[in-house]
Amino acid sequence: MIAILLGPPGAGKGTQAKRLEEEHGIKQLSTGDMLRAAVARGSRVGKLAREAMEAGDLVSDQIVIQIIAERITEPDCANGFLLDGFPRTVAQAGALDAMLEDIGKRLDAVVEIAVPEDILVKRISGRISCADCGAVYNEYFDPPKEEGRCDRCGGTNLVRRKDDNPETVRQRLVAYREQTAPLLPYYDNKGLLKRVDGTQPIDKVAHDIDRALGVVGLAPPDC
Ligand code: AP5
Ligand code: MG
Repeated sequence: MIAILLGPPGAGKGTQAKRLEEEHGIKQLSTGDMLRAAVARGSRVGKLAREAMEAGDLVSDQIVIQIIAERITEPDCANGFLLDGFPRTVAQAGALDAMLEDIGKRLDAVVEIAVPEDILVKRISGRISCADCGAVYNEYFDPPKEEGRCDRCGGTNLVRRKDDNPETVRQRLVAYREQTAPLLPYYDNKGLLKRVDGTQPIDKVAHDIDRALGVVGLAPPDC
């Protein structure tokens, strides 16, 4: 399966993509995670991306398209992958279409996780993640079982993202509205877009995404 999780900052793309990878073995490809790793390594790409990320702007199409074009040809993507945070502009979507055509594959589905802006801001302000394994938590909505300790790997290095400050979040929301939201009609016109209500609890969102993707999912908690 080749699918895209689309949605604004804080919608739950990473949370759901990690779960889909764990439960259904669909490889998560997060351009945000790849770029943050490049910044942390201080690589050439990291140096080029850093300023835009810290300002809440998009990194150039050229950089992210090249990252994805190389990544999807690696062996662990042979059986499909789930794009989290890519494409984010119409130019990136066009480049993805061309890449998939080159390797004789096609996009199966695009799932929009829809969440209004006031909820996004609250979610982002409470986000913490494990610096060791990448697990994502929320101090308000989804805290780790033991405070300060990652449920998944037991690590105690729970951190906040540098771009999760109010000013940068505002700019990330502007970038979404102006540059990424046009992808909704782009994919709707291709008959690929499915919409999920991302304001529901994480398990219910998971159930709806599994149904939208046609993978076997867990029943939501109250049915
Ligand atoms: P990226 O890392 O992709 O960030 P983003 O799109 O801003 O999205 P987030 O990661 O903030 O949110 P998410 O939807 O993954 O939510 P999460 O699951 O963590 O990109 C960062 C930057 O990199 C960009 O600003 C840009 O500069 C650059 N970049 C990346 N890709 C690019 C591209 N293709 N082109 C150009 N530039 C690019 O959840 C958020 C919080 O909410 C968590 O705490 C979670 O526990 C909680 N939560 C999740 N679901 C629920 C729920 N249902 N109920 C309650 N809480 C929930
Ligand atoms: Mg994310």
